[in-house]
Amino acid sequence: MNPGPWIKHSQNVAEAAEIIAKHCGLNCDKAFVCGLLHDIGRRNGVTAVRHIIDGYDYAIAQGWDEIARVCLTHSFPVKDIEADIGKKDITAAQYAFIENFLHTVQYDDYDKLIILCDALADANGFCILEKRFVDTTRRYGIFPFSVDRWNRTYQYKAYFEQIIGKSIYTLLPDIEKCIYD
Ligand SMILES: [Fe+2]
Repeated sequence: MNPGPWIKHSQNVAEAAEIIAKHCGLNCDKAFVCGLLHDIGRRNGVTAVRHIIDGYDYAIAQGWDEIARVCLTHSFPVKDIEADIGKKDITAAQYAFIENFLHTVQYDDYDKLIILCDALADANGFCILEKRFVDTTRRYGIFPFSVDRWNRTYQYKAYFEQIIGKSIYTLLPDIEKCIYD
């Protein structure tokens, strides 16, 4: 419905999530599927914040409530709707729904994992956080919450690395290729 680099990105996020989940004792299949479908709201077309709610609604309609949750949480390393960097292309009711959802949800390991993996993979493969942050900032610009979002993502990285006992970069094949892209 909407071909684009988000599909390769999603496949790479899925792979990163599966690998990290395996080393953390999480459910690898759940991690893979959450990664694969976190951006599924983009099936509807080129949208900004709306891809979050479109993904949530699509997954709920399929009965995939765990996926729906990740469709919504993955864009919010900082758990606040105003901390998103995309254009607010949603209705007032959708805004209120996301605001309330973020207010009440406690992030679990899968929420944290997909937020992290979203920043560890682009359409070409795996990449270091710094590269992805600069890439996103070049595309969307700098926002008041940008550094808070980066810092929170580094915290999630540190959280999983503490469990694994080494850098997650050592687990992601060919990540050094991101330097030469
Ligand atoms: Fe993504």
